Amino acid sequence: MQDAEGQLPNGHRMLAVLGAKGGCGTTLVAASLAAELAVEQAVCVLDLDFGKGDLAGCIDLWPGRTLHDLLGEPGRLDADVMRGTAVTHKGGFSVLAQPHDLSKVILPSAEEIKPVLHLARQCWTVVITDCGARADEVALAAALAADEVILLTTPHVSALRDAGRKIELLQRLELPKNKIRLVVNMRGKGGISATAIAEQLGLPVHAELPLDPGAAEAVDFSGRLLRDQVPGSPLHRAMARLWTQLYGEPEPVAPAQPWWKRW
Ligand SMILES: Nc1ncnc2c1ncn2[C@@H]1O[C@H](COP(=O)(O)OP(=O)(O)OP(=O)(O)O)[C@@H](O)[C@H]1O
Ligand SMILES: [Mg+2]
Repeated sequence: MQDAEGQLPNGHRMLAVLGAKGGCGTTLVAASLAAELAVEQAVCVLDLDFGKGDLAGCIDLWPGRTLHDLLGEPGRLDADVMRGTAVTHKGGFSVLAQPHDLSKVILPSAEEIKPVLHLARQCWTVVITDCGARADEVALAAALAADEVILLTTPHVSALRDAGRKIELLQRLELPKNKIRLVVNMRGKGGISATAIAEQLGLPVHAELPLDPGAAEAVDFSGRLLRDQVPGSPLHRAMARLWTQLYGEPEPVAPAQPWWKRW
């Protein structure tokens, strides 16, 4: 995948995908972005949605090894163990998943996850963390460790309200506001406009992904990636552009101007 300014090849990047609230599409975006980037980069996705993360199931992986194998033996943690624990998806990217069996889930502390994040960014060129929508200590540690946080919302009031709460929390934790990339998913006919969202949240909207139930259902049912199952669909086309939009200049936010006052 091309980067507008050639920023991608210059260094390893860690991107945290955080949902304003549940169901905004963090898992779909994390997996789809990984698939797009894996064409040219060594990419790993970490499912950090402890207790409910379903990244592996969504992309039809049934991994024998998971993040918990790394967390269970911190003394053995090194690059070889980490690469050996990650499972390679046929889309060409690595995955450190949550266990399918929920009884095996243990919620780590921020101090336990930090060395995993630190090592992951040395092992792969791009690391994407699916943080889910909870503001738990793992998700916050991942957000603070990341170069950028994709804050994923829908254009609806309930999600935008929670996006605002997450922005406030991240700022209280001293994450610079310019590290937050606001992405609006499921843009359909209605909803709050990008301009109004930017005004309300005090952040530019870096990208919008269309509401595309046909494409989303097709990947849900098949467990395949957008780029394999529905290439050329509106959602896949938007996903393929996402990386460039994240690192390009956002559209300037025009001040609200009713059409009858333009002349
Ligand atoms: N742009 C879109 N258009 C239509 N459906 C979408 C879109 N994005 C995601 N979906 C669908 O919304 C549902 C939730 O997506 P996903 O599981 O990625 O969200 P999530 O934020 O990870 O949810 P959770 O909080 O449960 O982890 C899925 O069925 C997915 O296919
Ligand atoms: Mg999810």
